[in-house]
Amino acid sequence: MSNKPLNVGLVGGGKGAFIVHPHQKAIHMDGTRRIVAGALFPDPKVALEEAANWPYPIKGYASYDEMIAANATAPAAEKLDYILIVTPNFVHYDPAMKAMQAGIAVFCEKPLCLNLKEAAKLVRTSQTLGVPFGVAHTYLGHWTSRLSRYIVQSGLLGDIRWVDSYYNQGWLATKLEATGQQQASWRVDPKRAGGSGCGGDIGTHALMQLRYVTGLEVTQVSAQMETFVQGRQLDDHFTIYCKLSNGGKALVRASQICIGYKNDLGITIAGTKGSLRWRQEDPECLTICLPNQPDRTYWRGAVSAGDGFLPKTLPADLLAESTLPAGHPEAFHDAFARLHRCFEADVRKWRAGKKFSSDGSKYANVGDGWSGIAFIETCVKSSKKKGAWVAMPKSL
Ligand SMILES: NC(=O)c1ccc[n+]([C@@H]2O[C@H](COP(=O)([O-])OP(=O)(O)OC[C@H]3O[C@@H](n4cnc5c(N)ncnc54)[C@H](O)[C@@H]3O)[C@@H](O)[C@H]2O)c1
Repeated sequence: MSNKPLNVGLVGGGKGAFIVHPHQKAIHMDGTRRIVAGALFPDPKVALEEAANWPYPIKGYASYDEMIAANATAPAAEKLDYILIVTPNFVHYDPAMKAMQAGIAVFCEKPLCLNLKEAAKLVRTSQTLGVPFGVAHTYLGHWTSRLSRYIVQSGLLGDIRWVDSYYNQGWLATKLEATGQQQASWRVDPKRAGGSGCGGDIGTHALMQLRYVTGLEVTQVSAQMETFVQGRQLDDHFTIYCKLSNGGKALVRASQICIGYKNDLGITIAGTKGSLRWRQEDPECLTICLPNQPDRTYWRGAVSAGDGFLPKTLPADLLAESTLPAGHPEAFHDAFARLHRCFEADVRKWRAGKKFSSDGSKYANVGDGWSGIAFIETCVKSSKKKGAWVAMPKSL
């Protein structure tokens, strides 16, 4: 197999952008992927200037339309293997659709798009064309999220009764958008963010963490979407009581008005045999609580099979995914890198005409993106009915 690095093209990322930077570090982390092109800004002139000023050489394009069109006639060595979409939510659908139709794989930021109609079209197109499509739910990339998923889905905690999946931040506790702050401005605007502010922005991460780790689906929601900061159009506090597909219950909650809280994403899972606790601000370990036993802390890269809780053998692919010795801390960038690494493996298989799975076990796929949008739309309906139970739509 060729060891030529995959070519990645950026959609968005110029002029003070945020999430492009962790992504670009993660893309370059293994030397097997590199960013070679970008349409970095909506204004064509600025897009070209920003590309010319990028910290390493990339080919700048005036727009993503131009970048995608140019790919058709580019020499084989310069063709894009995937695009990374790091624009605000209202600029996800169009470049993703056009890239797939042009035969380019897509790694897209969350939430997937603005509404369920768009989400359904993206799922169907990805299925019809067989194009790999990842969604950047960062926190699935922590090795401890992988271990949590293994523990819960192997039944080691028994039947899951209760999940509390949460994400607290404090940066929108004041009307930051009134100062023109870039990241705040579009996140509180329904035309650019979608039907929910806080829920779409970080509630979808809490939902995805629940779905990824437990393998359970939310079937009904009773939602309270609240706005504490006066004059803001979208929710800044999002509290959703959920019924789960196994009959259990969950709280999926997010808030952006919790002063002092930074990226307090975490999950507590309570089963009939024990509980699991994990926090992304301390992502190298997870805690298992069993009846009448001292709590157990499991560290990335330092687990022992057959220790009285874990079984005698552990999946080889799980163990192989911890690449740095335990105690040399991994964090946010490493989680992103693990997602890009796994996506790369699927893109390489696809390019070679081989089967790839994209089954959601290594990174969120377009169907997971659809579930996030379905959740938001169902929560909006329930919240408008003062928290009445509303069923989630059937998955595609
Ligand atoms: N996975 C995560 O942990 C995580 C964290 C933060 C943000 N996000 C998501 O990433 C996306 C971007 O968020 P951000 O905070 O980086 O936003 P940002 O405002 O910092 O950056 C957005 C970038 O997109 C560019 N852009 C806008 N329209 C464009 C167009 N038509 N063509 C080219 N470029 C265009 C802007 O100029 C800017 O460079 C959002 O969907 C957000 O929800 C995800």
